[in-house]
Amino acid sequence: MPTKIEKDAVTGTMTTGHEWDGIRELNTPLPKWWLWVFYACIAWSLGYFVLYPTLPGVGGWLGWSQRAELADRMAAERARVQPMLDRIRTTAVADIPRSGDLHGFAIAGGRAAFADNCAPCHGAGAAGAKGGFPSLVDDEWIWGGDLDAIGRTIAFGVRSAHADTRQSQMPRFGLDGMLTPAQISDTAEYVLTLSGRAAVPAAAERGRTIFADQCVACHGEAGRGNLELGAPSLADRIWLYGGDKASIERSIASARGGVMPAWSGRLDEATIRMLTLYVHSLGGGR
Ligand code: HEC
Ligand code: HEC
Repeated sequence: MPTKIEKDAVTGTMTTGHEWDGIRELNTPLPKWWLWVFYACIAWSLGYFVLYPTLPGVGGWLGWSQRAELADRMAAERARVQPMLDRIRTTAVADIPRSGDLHGFAIAGGRAAFADNCAPCHGAGAAGAKGGFPSLVDDEWIWGGDLDAIGRTIAFGVRSAHADTRQSQMPRFGLDGMLTPAQISDTAEYVLTLSGRAAVPAAAERGRTIFADQCVACHGEAGRGNLELGAPSLADRIWLYGGDKASIERSIASARGGVMPAWSGRLDEATIRMLTLYVHSLGGGR
């Protein structure tokens, strides 16, 4: 309700003429300096908005952007490492470990590429994961642990879509009715003994015969595996799919057929070589 504008008796400040329920508003405007700073900020922000790349897709009038700066720095970095990458491409892989600085560069590059491409399946530390993803840090190899074999596995994959893929197929002894569940159970008992574990003697004895008939062709006489065929060793405690009896029975009954993708075509030659050297250096390289 409008009232008279007058001097307030208590504070000595003029009132605005507004009153609510007997309370009158004093006229205390913002200090002028504060207001001018406020207006200056608005003007500044408008200028900033126009000059710098504020809106997505609009470059800004100064032509500068963090995105472009990043691209420049990446290009500079690529130019810096290009001579090293060229050397990696043109040096025989087997000679790289003997060439100090180049080897260090390759291992660092391989480690970075591994984290980007391989860690989801093989684990950040390359220790593998249950369900068929082998550890690359031990000295058991399915397909071979020398530089050549590792390089081939990485480039072409295992049961991959690549024409040169490594390929091997364990028969599905259960699913395809080649062995009865009782025979599979006996064979699994025998497989347990290959890694020195306790088994029911009579069953393991029956399993030994089946193993000799059906399995040694790929897994070998003592179950030590065969690199040519990608048949893993059954004679140690390293398992792709689990080494308890139930897991072994499942492997025999249905075969697993894990897939390792081919990287040739997806990664460049230098990167594949760096990965090969990195994996080889993890501890189990031959
Ligand atoms: C989609 C999952 C997957 C990815 C991603 C993957 N791998 Fe594999 N890798 C596998 C599987 C599964 C096997 C085992 C294949 C088999 O049963 O023979 C394997 C096997 C291997 C082997 C052979 C091991 C041996 O004992 O012979 C090497 C070496 C290897 N991978 C390296 C790599 C590298 C390096 C990368 C990254 C560029 C990579 N893998 C990415 C799934 C993967
Ligand atoms: C034609 C070759 C071939 C024959 C024959 C074969 N296997 Fe295999 N076996 C493989 C290959 C290759 C793998 C790994 C890929 C897979 O599991 O499919 C494998 C994997 C396994 C595994 C899983 C190993 C692990 O680390 O988890 C077990 C257990 C196994 N075989 C047992 C047997 C038994 C027992 C027989 C005989 C009844 C047999 N295999 C016959 C090729 C063969």
